[in-house]
Amino acid sequence: MKKIVVLISGSGSNLEAIIESCTAKKINGKVIHVISNNPDAFGLIRASKFNIASKVIDHKKFSSRIDFENSLEEFLDTLSPDLIVLAGFMRILGTKITSKFSNKMINLHPSLLPVYPGLHTHEKVLENKDTRHGISIHYVSSELDAGPLIAQGFIDISKDETLEDIIKRIHKIEHLLLPEVINEICNENIYLDNNEVKYRNINLHNQKIIKRSYEI
Ligand code: GAR
Repeated sequence: MKKIVVLISGSGSNLEAIIESCTAKKINGKVIHVISNNPDAFGLIRASKFNIASKVIDHKKFSSRIDFENSLEEFLDTLSPDLIVLAGFMRILGTKITSKFSNKMINLHPSLLPVYPGLHTHEKVLENKDTRHGISIHYVSSELDAGPLIAQGFIDISKDETLEDIIKRIHKIEHLLLPEVINEICNENIYLDNNEVKYRNINLHNQKIIKRSYEI
């Protein structure tokens, strides 16, 4: 059973989707610990509801980013995770920690990367009147939202959709695709080799990465 550690900063709806998928055996792994940089993250309450250990490593209590990251790295070392999932973790991580965990740290991002790295992705979709939007799951590198892509989920956006509608729909597809990808990683059907994502026993339908369209 693979040991999964989930890093969060806020609501933790994706954390809950991951935990529920583990309980339902849709993920061949177990969330052994949750780490939040935000002491007030609602995800911490979700973790305790499922009796999952959690720890706050509050970036504000450190005098530098590297001190925060060293503390995070040290704690992760004590857990010996097989997979570290950044699920709504809103801190940028530097070279030292990302290279150390490069083949076992993945991030969920609410846009179709390389379009819209960073914040306010849904607002940008609306501003630019995009007709497609979606999510990306990728291995983490020190470059913001730019590590090797594993999977993307797509939705069509209609003219009259509000920001709230879009956020709701994006969450729905995150809760489907992220657990699916985590399970494939736990089953060693997705892995990183020389900074390239490799797939085993997965039909990519002539695409380079997993691409799913959702009508949600
Ligand atoms: C998710 O939509 C995730 O894609 C996004 O934060 C949300 C967290 O929701 N992540 C980022 O923006 C990372 N740059 P949750 O706390 O309910 O899982």
